Amino acid sequence: MTAPIGGLYERVEHAARTIRARSQTEPRVALVLGSGLGGFADGLAEATVISYDEIPGFARSTVEGHAGRLVLGEVEETPVAVMQGRFHYYEGYSFEEVTFPIRVLAMLGARALVLTNAAGGINNAFSQGSLMVITDHINMMGANPLRGPNDDRFGPRFPDMTEVYDADFRRIVAEEARALGIELRHGVYAAMAGPSYETPAEIRMLRILGADAVGMSTVPEAIVARHMGMRVLGISCITNMAAGILNQPINHEEVMETGERVREQFTQLLRRVIPRLVV
Ligand code: 6GU
Repeated sequence: MTAPIGGLYERVEHAARTIRARSQTEPRVALVLGSGLGGFADGLAEATVISYDEIPGFARSTVEGHAGRLVLGEVEETPVAVMQGRFHYYEGYSFEEVTFPIRVLAMLGARALVLTNAAGGINNAFSQGSLMVITDHINMMGANPLRGPNDDRFGPRFPDMTEVYDADFRRIVAEEARALGIELRHGVYAAMAGPSYETPAEIRMLRILGADAVGMSTVPEAIVARHMGMRVLGISCITNMAAGILNQPINHEEVMETGERVREQFTQLLRRVIPRLVV
């Protein structure tokens, strides 16, 4: 099939059609797995795996630790679509490219979106390996993914952002974490453009602004998802403390290793939470 001539909406439809031709799964819940957290998709039942380069309109993921594939299957009998790897602004993609898959997942019928990421801890009560439910965000990326002409078929020109991260979903995660004996944190996620990590002065600034954790993703996707009326859950894995908090530099290997280390906790939590996100 050749790519349709037309705008973003038509390209999103085209991608959704391509995915539907490959899998019968009608996902109710969509997930984006962050750095080091991609392993969750490996345990999916009835899985169809589609490489991003087979989906028209999808860019290609370049960062280490991101598989770059969409997995459709079931988690505890809930049909899901899982992005193993995401597109980051720091890779050079436009915000439209970064958020394109989110629009496709919504078009496939997913009404709930789980965004996960690796993040640096700013709140002193956090430590390496902590899991944080995102209560709210601060967009420090310098732009908004909805900038430009608005297509009313996606959503309104000026979408409300009072409750980006669904309060019911946050309560569900808290309940399931308690049941599993996982100590769960809650906090505000600040998104930076990256790719350099922050300076200690920037981390002090973010703390004053009210941020508990910092990363380079999630916020554009959450905004676009809310624009389309999806309900959003955000979970950060605190893979390291941010600059200037501990007396040590930050490296990507550490970020990946911590993701691997919390994989079991994280997987257990998601398995119990996902069936409760069907709305
Ligand atoms: Cl310290 N900063 C940012 N921006 N992203 C991160 C991080 C820090 N640690 C993991 N991801």
